[in-house]
Amino acid sequence: MRSNQLKEKYIEFFKSKKHKEISNFSLIPQNDPTVLFTTAGMHPLVPYLLGQKHPSGKRLVNVQKCLRTGDIDEVGNDIHLTFFEMLGNWGLGDYWKEDAINWSFEFLTDKKWLNLPVDRLGVSVFAGDKDSPKDEESVKIWKDNGIFEKRIAYLGKKDNWWGPAGQTGPCGPCTEMFYWAGKGDAPERFDPTDSNWIEIWNDVFMQYNKDIEGKYSELKQKNVDTGMGTERIIMILEGKNSIYETSNFVPIVEKIKQLAGFDKVNEVEEISVRKIADHVRAATFLINDGVAPSNADQGYVLRRLIRTAIRHGRILGISQKNLCGEISKEIIKIYSKNYPGLKEKRKKILDELDIEETKFEQTLEKGLKKFKEMTKNRKISGKNAFLLFQSYGFPLEIVRELAEENGVKVDVKGFERELKKHQEISRTSTKGKFGSGLADQSEEVTKLHTATHLLHSALKKVLKEDIEQRGSNITSERLRFDFNFDRKLTEEEIKKVEETINDWIKKDIVVKMDEMTISEAKKAGAIGLFEYSGKVSVYSIGKISKEICTGPHVKNTKEIGKFEIVKEKSSSAGVRRIKAILS
Ligand code: ALA
Repeated sequence: MRSNQLKEKYIEFFKSKKHKEISNFSLIPQNDPTVLFTTAGMHPLVPYLLGQKHPSGKRLVNVQKCLRTGDIDEVGNDIHLTFFEMLGNWGLGDYWKEDAINWSFEFLTDKKWLNLPVDRLGVSVFAGDKDSPKDEESVKIWKDNGIFEKRIAYLGKKDNWWGPAGQTGPCGPCTEMFYWAGKGDAPERFDPTDSNWIEIWNDVFMQYNKDIEGKYSELKQKNVDTGMGTERIIMILEGKNSIYETSNFVPIVEKIKQLAGFDKVNEVEEISVRKIADHVRAATFLINDGVAPSNADQGYVLRRLIRTAIRHGRILGISQKNLCGEISKEIIKIYSKNYPGLKEKRKKILDELDIEETKFEQTLEKGLKKFKEMTKNRKISGKNAFLLFQSYGFPLEIVRELAEENGVKVDVKGFERELKKHQEISRTSTKGKFGSGLADQSEEVTKLHTATHLLHSALKKVLKEDIEQRGSNITSERLRFDFNFDRKLTEEEIKKVEETINDWIKKDIVVKMDEMTISEAKKAGAIGLFEYSGKVSVYSIGKISKEICTGPHVKNTKEIGKFEIVKEKSSSAGVRRIKAILS
C-alpha cells in the first residue's frame, strides 16, 4: 500500500466513526514559545484538550507533518526520521479507552482496513506509579480483542506516558501497539526491548495537566490523543526492512546514489545516503513553512540539517553543486500532491538551499583544516567546538561526527556553555519557564494574542499591505512577531505602529469569534493558514482584523492596555522581528 492510500483509508475509517477531518498545521507552532516545532498532532490542539470548544466538534482526525530532533543521532538506522507524517485521531471530552483501543485494533487488523495479522501484534500499557494507577482497564480491553497476556508489556512513565508537548500542559498514560517485523513467526512473548518489535501506534489517555512544579491534576475533560507514524506503517505494509526502502523514499535514495555515481553502497555509505535523504526532506518542508537558515531557533535546526546533509554528500564523494537542491526537486515531486505549497514555493526552496550550500562551501575546507589542527591532542574543547561553529559554520552534529570518525573527544557541555553565553538559541531551552505555550491561557497571554492581531494589521497599514506573519511567539511577558520586510523600521514608523494600535485599543472594539469552513473564511477575507481543511475559528476585531486563530482572545480591545514596541531587529534575510509588551 502506498502512503496516500494509507492516509485516505485512515481518514475514511475515522470519518466512519464520526470524526471530522481537521487541518494539517504548520511545522512551526503558532503563538507557542515552549517548543520549536510541531512534534505531534496533538500539539496545535492543546487549547481544545484543555476544554476550549473546537469548531469541528469533539471527534477529530488528521494527518499532521511533524519534526522531532530528539532522535537525530539515530537517523540512518532503519526506522528513525526527523520529519514524518503522523496519523492521529482525537476524542475531546468524548470517547474513552474502550472506543479508542477497539478502533485502533479494528483499523490495524480488519480485512477491510490494514488486515495486519493479530499474531504479530504486541501492546504495552502503563504499569502505574505514584501519579496514576496501573491501567487495568486497557489490559482488559486488549484481552477482549484477543491479545494474550504474554503479548502485553507493563511499562512505566519513561515508555508509557505521553506529554506534555512543552514543559507543562495535558498529558497522560498511554498504550502502544507494536508489530513483529522480524523473520518468521513472532515469538510468543512480546519483548519491547527487541528491535524486531516495531512501535507503530500510540493511544494516549490524556486526563492530567502537568503544572510548572511538575504536579499532575485531573483535566476538566478526558481526552484521547493518538498518533501513528505513516512511514513506519508503510514499511510494514510494503514488506520492507527499512523506511528508506519504501515507495516514497526510493526515488530520493536513488537520486542520491546516482549523484554519488554508484548503485551499491556499503553499510557506512548507506547511513550517509539515509541522512541526506532524511535531512533534505526535513529541510524542504521547513523552508516550505517559512523557516530560513540562521544561527537561532528553528533556523539553526534547518542550518544543521542542510550542512550535515552536505557533509555526508562529501563523504560519498559527491562534488555536484546544489546537492540539496537536486534532491529536494525529487522530494517536491513526491509530496506536491498532498502539499501543493511545495510546488508554489519550489523556487524559494531551491534558492534557499543553494544559498546555504554556497555559504557553507566557503568555510568548509578551512574549517576541516582548522579541525585537524585542533585535534593534535585528541580533544576538542568547548571553546574550540564553538569556534568551529561560530567562525566556520560547523553545527555541533558535524563536529561530533568528525570527532567520532577521527577517534577524538568533544566537550559537548563546554560547547553548550559557550553557545549559551553567545546566542539567543540558548533561550529556547529555558523558554518554558516564561509560560506554557498553548497551554497558557492566562490573562496576560490572552491580551497579547489579541494585540498580535492588531500589530499584524497596523504593520500592513503603516508599512505595506502585503506584510505577512512569518512567526509568532507569546510568553506571559511579551509578544514576538516576525514578518516579511527587508529593512530596519524607522523611529517614525515604529511610533506610528504603536499609535495606530493604541488608538484602536481605545476605541473599545468588540472581538468576535465565528466558526466557518476554510473556504468561507477565505471568502470573508480572513488571513491565516489556508492550506488545510476542516472548520476554523475566525477572530474579527471590527473592520481592523480578521484572522484564523486558535485563540484565546479578549472580548473587547479595551482590555488590552497600552501597547509598546521594545525591540525591532532582523530575524533572518528579509524578515524583521518585533518584540512588544503591554502595560
Ligand atoms: N501524542 C502522541 C504521540 O505523539 C499520540 O505519540
